[in-house]
Amino acid sequence: MSRSKTLFEKALKLFPGGVNSPVRAAFKPYPFFIERGEGAYVYTVDGQRYIDLILGYGPLVLGHRHPYVYKKVLEQIERGWLYAAPYEAELELAEKILGHVYPNGMVRFVNSGSEATSLAIRIARGYTGRKYIVKFEGCYHGAYDYVLVSAGSAAEHFGVPTSLGIPDEISRLTLVARYNHREDVEKIFSEYGDDIAAVIVEPVIGNMGVIPPKKGFLEYLRRVTSEYDSLLIFDEVITGFRLSLGGAQEYYGIKADLVTLGKIIGGGFPIGAVAGAKEIMENITPKGKIFNAGTFNSHPISIVAGLATIEYIEENKILETLATSAEEIEKVSKEVSEEIDLNIWVNRVESLIQIFFSEGPIWTVEEAKKSDKEMYFNFHRELLNRGVMVTPSQFEALFLSSEHKEEILDTVLQSISESIKALGG
Ligand SMILES: Cc1ncc(COP(=O)(O)O)c(C=O)c1O
Repeated sequence: MSRSKTLFEKALKLFPGGVNSPVRAAFKPYPFFIERGEGAYVYTVDGQRYIDLILGYGPLVLGHRHPYVYKKVLEQIERGWLYAAPYEAELELAEKILGHVYPNGMVRFVNSGSEATSLAIRIARGYTGRKYIVKFEGCYHGAYDYVLVSAGSAAEHFGVPTSLGIPDEISRLTLVARYNHREDVEKIFSEYGDDIAAVIVEPVIGNMGVIPPKKGFLEYLRRVTSEYDSLLIFDEVITGFRLSLGGAQEYYGIKADLVTLGKIIGGGFPIGAVAGAKEIMENITPKGKIFNAGTFNSHPISIVAGLATIEYIEENKILETLATSAEEIEKVSKEVSEEIDLNIWVNRVESLIQIFFSEGPIWTVEEAKKSDKEMYFNFHRELLNRGVMVTPSQFEALFLSSEHKEEILDTVLQSISESIKALGG
């Protein structure tokens, strides 16, 4: 019996479903136990090596244990790893992030993307004095009550579009529209407009596979929120420092009122952040009356790792390289599937990419759900057999790192090509 299997049997007795976050259980018949990660690879306790295209579901844009990040983290460890008091590096990361994402704005560092979006929602409610928020079906903003309504990602994968344990009174404050369906938003605003604190959106959905915005959709959200004095929250936990250094705001040329960040800005350590205009952000405690606090807020290890990651991305133009690699994945997948007459659809924005087994285009969550998920799972299996690990869930994205260099990328392309052919045959 493999060691992973033995360990998973033990894990099933210790953790509900054997894991500590649901998507980890989507590997069948059981997930691998990882021994270590290095560069583009993870190594399992059973001695297998995989090219990792999951990369912690996004944070590891420089791959595992990147030497530059490693050095900065060790230097910080030498100085102690928790102060719960101000220190200089947090100013450096704040200046770096604001410079790209919200010039002249302010930021609050928290510990996860979920904390960031929940704080952004509280800020919007506190600032506007209103109670409703609008979210989109299939957009995932974290694992808490206000946004676990028609959430994508793991909730979708396991067929739990919402969660037990959330009182109706709370769910009712979250109005759900279909992404890329402007008419839904119009209808909601015509009915509730003056009571809507904010619209929260993943500017490109990265939690339903990848779904880009239709032309004019984000612009419309900006217009309607301004018209009704509601705030527009861009949840850039995935798109931040990925679509461009300034994230989706820069990429699409739209300024949100609040931006939530996570993943990449912690370089693989836990982090979240809310950035926005001073006038709004100054309402957070201790300056204002919208409460936020945290023992681990602005954790020194996450801050120095994030700073190192962003510095490295800037200096080495990593985002451009990743986008080129993703473009190659798109090209090869399309060419091979055409060759063997298999229907696939690739959605890609810069390096953010996912492949769907679908006859038609995927612009909406309904279309994503109709794609052939079993075929996608088999694609994941075929890739694993060739030493490449992509998420087993159709509703996550593929991720690339700076360490997926030429030879490794060639192996990925070759494996994708062979896997698609195996599925078609
Ligand atoms: C867009 C988006 N927002 C928020 C979150 C929640 O972040 P975290 O898992 O760090 O709480 C995620 C996580 O995948 C995400 O993709």
